[in-house]
Amino acid sequence: MRVIRDFAALRAATAACRMAGQRLALVPTMGALHEGHLALVTEARRHAEAVVVSIFVNPLQFLPTEDLARYPRDEDGDLRKLESLGTDLVWMPDVATMYPPGAATTIEVTGPAQGFEGTARPGHFRGVATVCTKLFSQTGADVAVFGEKDWQQLQVVKRVVADLDLPIRIIPHDTSALNG
Ligand code: PAF
Repeated sequence: MRVIRDFAALRAATAACRMAGQRLALVPTMGALHEGHLALVTEARRHAEAVVVSIFVNPLQFLPTEDLARYPRDEDGDLRKLESLGTDLVWMPDVATMYPPGAATTIEVTGPAQGFEGTARPGHFRGVATVCTKLFSQTGADVAVFGEKDWQQLQVVKRVVADLDLPIRIIPHDTSALNG
């Protein structure tokens, strides 16, 4: 398993997968991995020969009133769990890599982003849509696996992929029997 923190290494690793004729499946996460996440990784393996898991606590999807610093983090534990599942690549950019100074583009979704959590947490789905679009573009993954539990998030991501003609297939996965 390769843990990757910079774009040059990510590009080289994903290009090597493509050269080897492997499809790539992405599981986007914010870390602190539990059984639900691990089920997504196992599902990803059913759809591709290579699996990349991203771990990035995305500041853009937290409200100013929400405590980003207190979001749980367990890098060593996460890597151990991913290694035990045979994950190929772990993409762990820092905030400056994901959002370099001067970054000024975000993805604004209406439709499925409105109401429910979109109302309770204004701007949250802008952050989710923006980071997911970047993760899709950065990894060039063929498919991405999302939990059905976060139903509104899943609808938002599917809308973005359809509206922006992104060359990736979103695979919903039911983890309701698990913790997440
Ligand atoms: O569901 C999550 O953990 C996050 O919203 C996601 C999809 C990884 C984007 O940061």
